[in-house]
Amino acid sequence: MIVNVNGTFIHYIEHGQSNGLPLVFLHGFPFSGAMWQPQLNSLPDSVRAVAPDIRGSGASDVGDGQYTIDLFVDDLIALLDYLQISKAVLCGLSMGGYIAQRALQRRPDLVQGLILCNTKSEADTDEAKINRANSIRNIKLNGIPAFSEEYLKHIFSPETFANNAEAVILIKNIIESTSLLGLCGTQLALAARTDTTSLFSSLNIPVLFLAGARDLIVPPGVMNALQKKVWGSEFHILPHSAHISNLEDTTEFNRILLEFLKKYWHV
Ligand code: MLT
Repeated sequence: MIVNVNGTFIHYIEHGQSNGLPLVFLHGFPFSGAMWQPQLNSLPDSVRAVAPDIRGSGASDVGDGQYTIDLFVDDLIALLDYLQISKAVLCGLSMGGYIAQRALQRRPDLVQGLILCNTKSEADTDEAKINRANSIRNIKLNGIPAFSEEYLKHIFSPETFANNAEAVILIKNIIESTSLLGLCGTQLALAARTDTTSLFSSLNIPVLFLAGARDLIVPPGVMNALQKKVWGSEFHILPHSAHISNLEDTTEFNRILLEFLKKYWHV
């Protein structure tokens, strides 16, 4: 479906009953809602799963390429309103986690649970900002396929390359269908994001943290430190996964996700 919200066109995929538990999946950079298809396929109909493409990604509008994480949150709030979802569980991977955290900070009334995968709360360091600037320059100089080839090496484990070509090809195709404006604009948004760490000292909703044992972008220790701030939250390390835990360790990811949803919402 493509809908007109917040002055832009947002594409999303959906699965489950319209009166089911609303669970919104937010993808990482530079992916799309299609990365969540294995989760949408496995969830019971009692979950209303929605996976939008963030502005500038997938089949959503690219617009002027001037994005911020707050703009992505505005789009999310408008989409929830359009779908008549008054309180959702948010599940975000990496950039999707940044968006989920900021949404919760701004509109706690809209969020009844949080699932954070391969993500963190700190803003970019100066070094990370410089890397983003270099990445933008390199994409413009060398093109998207060169960027994609290099990026894939950082996000997947050697095991995934050896045994799960399907996941690598899916993400490669998504990256290579992303526009230059979307790729560069989203990196500017990532570089300018705020630190959301203060959110975690006073959370009183169910929170699940999922880390990849081989994640070099957000090592498990970073997520473990965050999880310790949230009383009663759960933390799992997916053994075969680097940065894309829902695709690299799908069976285990889906099992933990379903257990969590059953425990708190009896889906
Ligand atoms: C992502 O997967 O969304 C990115 O690794 C996020 C980032 O670069 O900070």
